Amino acid sequence: MVRRLFEWVMSPMGWIAVVIVALSVFSLAAFGIYRSQQALKPQPIQFPHNLHVGLGVQCLYCHPGAARGPSSGLPTINKCWGCHQQIAKTQTSDKLKPLRDAMASGANFVWVPVAKVPDFVHFNHRPHIAAGLNCENCHGDMSQVEIAENPQVMNMGWCLSCHKERAGGDEEKFIKLTDCGTCHY
Ligand code: HEC
Ligand code: HEC
Ligand code: HEC
Ligand code: HEC
Ligand code: HEC
Repeated sequence: MVRRLFEWVMSPMGWIAVVIVALSVFSLAAFGIYRSQQALKPQPIQFPHNLHVGLGVQCLYCHPGAARGPSSGLPTINKCWGCHQQIAKTQTSDKLKPLRDAMASGANFVWVPVAKVPDFVHFNHRPHIAAGLNCENCHGDMSQVEIAENPQVMNMGWCLSCHKERAGGDEEKFIKLTDCGTCHY
């Protein structure tokens, strides 16, 4: 048994199999490392959505691009400071130390993306907001979220299932919203 296995491994087919197995183990490991690094990269400051949304600050105040164009945009440090320089807690809170340090050194925050589709997909916020969708339809209820995480996989099936539903039997709309060129061009 062992001998037959050994002979098979030494044969050309066996070598090919060994190489394939080694390559797939390697690429799986590389993918795993890539994923874990993606997941582990921390935000420059732990920004609590629930607290700010709960205070009544509008989504569009910090993400004004959503109604205007493709990208919602993320706030710069000046937007944080505009409020926080007037808030007593800013000078004492440990949670706000990264904000104080960055202001003192003149640095900006470089946010780690959470909601993202690959570059070969063209997503635009504007037509969605214009069609009456809410942020919540795609991003979940951010008033319940402390640190932003992607609530769902933003894959092709997700886009298409909503597009099919929203076409509402209108054939022209259905064709446009499911056409490959609408999202890939
Ligand atoms: C006071 C400013 C502020 C308000 C108000 C705010 N956000 Fe944010 N939002 C941020 C910051 C800062 C980040 C980047 C840090 C992070 O991802 O946690 C962010 C990240 C996000 C992300 C993750 C996007 C990405 O890829 O990084 C989503 C989605 C989001 N916000 C949606 C919303 C929605 C929906 C609302 C309203 C219910 C809202 N935000 C209100 C400041 C704000
Ligand atoms: C519209 C005004 C406003 C804006 C803009 C704003 N904040 Fe705040 N933030 C507040 C208020 C008010 C509090 C609550 C302060 C308190 O508890 O006394 C707060 C609390 C916080 C806390 C929790 C502090 C603690 O010790 O519990 C953090 C962290 C924070 N903000 C970070 C940010 C960051 C980062 C930005 C920019 C992306 C930002 N904030 C933008 C008003 C704002
Ligand atoms: C139809 C679904 C949908 C709706 C509605 C929607 N978003 Fe998004 N959002 C996305 C997708 C998909 C991405 C990833 C886009 C990318 O990678 O280019 C995204 C990305 C973001 C980001 C990351 C940074 C950026 O500039 O793109 C923020 C912040 C954000 N959305 C906030 C909002 C806010 C605020 C609203 C409501 C005004 C909203 N979104 C409504 C699907 C949606
Ligand atoms: C929750 C529902 C929903 C989701 C999820 C969604 N969409 Fe849409 N999308 C719509 C609606 C509604 C429209 C506007 C249809 C109309 O013109 O009446 C639209 C329009 C568009 C348009 C503009 C079509 C045109 O030419 O007028 C593009 C491009 C698009 N979506 C891409 C995407 C992509 C890419 C994703 C996934 C990353 C996505 N959408 C996810 C509902 C959704
Ligand atoms: C409503 C938007 C939308 C439409 C319409 C759409 N796609 Fe996609 N497609 C996406 C998104 C988002 C992704 C990236 C996420 C993923 O891999 O599922 C994607 C990924 C892909 C990929 C890469 C798959 C992978 O596993 O990496 C291919 C190939 C593709 N699409 C082909 C097509 C073809 C062919 C059509 C027309 C029949 C089409 N798409 C229509 C949104 C769309």
